[in-house]
Amino acid sequence: MSIFEYDVIVIGAGLTGERAAVEAHKNGCSVAIISIVQPRQSHSNAAQGGIQCSLDNMGEHSAGDDWKLHFDDTVRGSDWGADQDVVERVTKAAPRLVREMEYFGCPFNRTEDGKIEQRNFGGTSVWRAAFAADFTGHALLYAVDQEVMRREIDIFWRIQVISLVMNGERCIGCIGLDLRTGKLLTFYAKSTILATGGAGRLFSETTNAIICRGDGQSLAYNTGLVPLGNMEAIQFHPTGIYPIWILLTEGCRGDGGVLRNSQNHEFMWDYAAKKGNLASRDVVSRSMMSEIRAGRGIDGPFGPYLWLDLTHLGADKIMSRLRDVHDIARDFAGIDVITQMAPVKPVQHYTMGGVRTDIDCRAKGVVGLYAGGECACWDMHGYNRLGGNSVLETIASGYFSGQAAANDAKGRSSQDSDFSVLHDGFNRQQERINKLIATDPEVNTFALVNEMGVLMTKGVGIFRTGELLQDAVNKLLDIRERSNKLGLGCKSTGRSLELEMALRIQGMIDIALTIAQGALKREESRGGHYREDFPNRDDKNWLKRTLAYKQGESYLPRLEYEDVVITHLPPGDRGYGEKAPPPAK
Ligand code: FUM
Repeated sequence: MSIFEYDVIVIGAGLTGERAAVEAHKNGCSVAIISIVQPRQSHSNAAQGGIQCSLDNMGEHSAGDDWKLHFDDTVRGSDWGADQDVVERVTKAAPRLVREMEYFGCPFNRTEDGKIEQRNFGGTSVWRAAFAADFTGHALLYAVDQEVMRREIDIFWRIQVISLVMNGERCIGCIGLDLRTGKLLTFYAKSTILATGGAGRLFSETTNAIICRGDGQSLAYNTGLVPLGNMEAIQFHPTGIYPIWILLTEGCRGDGGVLRNSQNHEFMWDYAAKKGNLASRDVVSRSMMSEIRAGRGIDGPFGPYLWLDLTHLGADKIMSRLRDVHDIARDFAGIDVITQMAPVKPVQHYTMGGVRTDIDCRAKGVVGLYAGGECACWDMHGYNRLGGNSVLETIASGYFSGQAAANDAKGRSSQDSDFSVLHDGFNRQQERINKLIATDPEVNTFALVNEMGVLMTKGVGIFRTGELLQDAVNKLLDIRERSNKLGLGCKSTGRSLELEMALRIQGMIDIALTIAQGALKREESRGGHYREDFPNRDDKNWLKRTLAYKQGESYLPRLEYEDVVITHLPPGDRGYGEKAPPPAK
């Protein structure tokens, strides 16, 4: 067994991972990135509408914008679930970090006087989202990947990391499966950064790419030492295109698009009198589901949907600013958004929770492990993330985690580590694979994943109740039990989707259980976590973050709670003119 040795290893090659790798390299470290896919195929590529930063480039539309206003919007958006010291740090750094991405080569849209253009987005008081048409993530990812290439940072791709290696409470690397050959690889690192993205594929209806399966969360959780923060905080984006759920960006509404029901009524003003179509996502998604519940959706073979109307924007605006939306609607739904309304429905989009870290992205409970971006919870978004703040977070947490990981690595020596645990880790994972090969499956891996996805969408969705959640927990426990009967139908380990999934599925179910159990125990409504049986925010009892720890052999997490950091803005009204949804019939 040979060992690849680096100062810093980054797991994940999206915007967070690549930005972290650049920062660690800039700080003098040897760095490698490990990724399931070729970096430019990472899910960051799918971010469409923009990146939030208070540049104030839009005259009257952004007048007075500064980090404080961005901070305020973010904390209100989070429904006071965010740590305000983190929000302050990120909103202050945002303009510089975005300009740096421009320097790396991101072709942002321009105002007539040549500045970076900014568009309107949900839940913000001014136009703040810098953008490259509606392929902002793609443009940013190509720019930062170019910088990774310029620096000749090593990339191991088509590698699925299946375990971290712990030397006591210190992470000293990981074991990866080469998805082409089926062979295991061993990596030693003084610092390991998790940047694997979200867990949207735990749900059957999601905007997320198939690689977003909560790998990083599961790797950290499995150490038994690192808690996951606020896993019940799930975001449902209002406009997944029906019925395949690819995102149609919030930039559609930022640029003037509106939501309509079956009676052609622009209903959002009935629910959010001050912000209408551009209230925060949790409010818009709940309002849409209320319309559907009230029978004002449009019936379709995959359930009811609503309309996103861009037809009044005109071809020029659509083709210059929303061209991907145009192409997605044409290619996947046969709709020409210049002349026809697009069918949409709220679907899972984002996991606000994740690997709990400190403000420097150091994972709680261990040494040598860091996490950033969607797989982490440092916690910038609380219970609802504003659109475009995730893209900002990728860059910001990449920057801060890369810096912390590099600085800490300089103070560590490989002599401090017991390399025999790397050998043990390798052997354990090889035995795990050998056991799967030796077992003929009694259950189908892919069927179990699908069953879990449907259950999560139905039971842990936009409207939650104690009864639905308890039922979801019970069924997830049953699925988890059945997953012990997995084996491999195909005994070859190279290019085996079955093996890839078999190695991951128990971690996925465990993560799903942290979401469902966290939601069951949180008896209040806050941001995207809406309990019909507890419809109000309850700051007295629940101004807290949930921490989910793996507890021994139990499938259910142990839940603890910690205070949210409040520095500037005490809990109050969010400012959308929001009305509570009508009770379910
Ligand atoms: O709607 C969007 O463009 C999504 C942006 C985001 O999730 O930040």
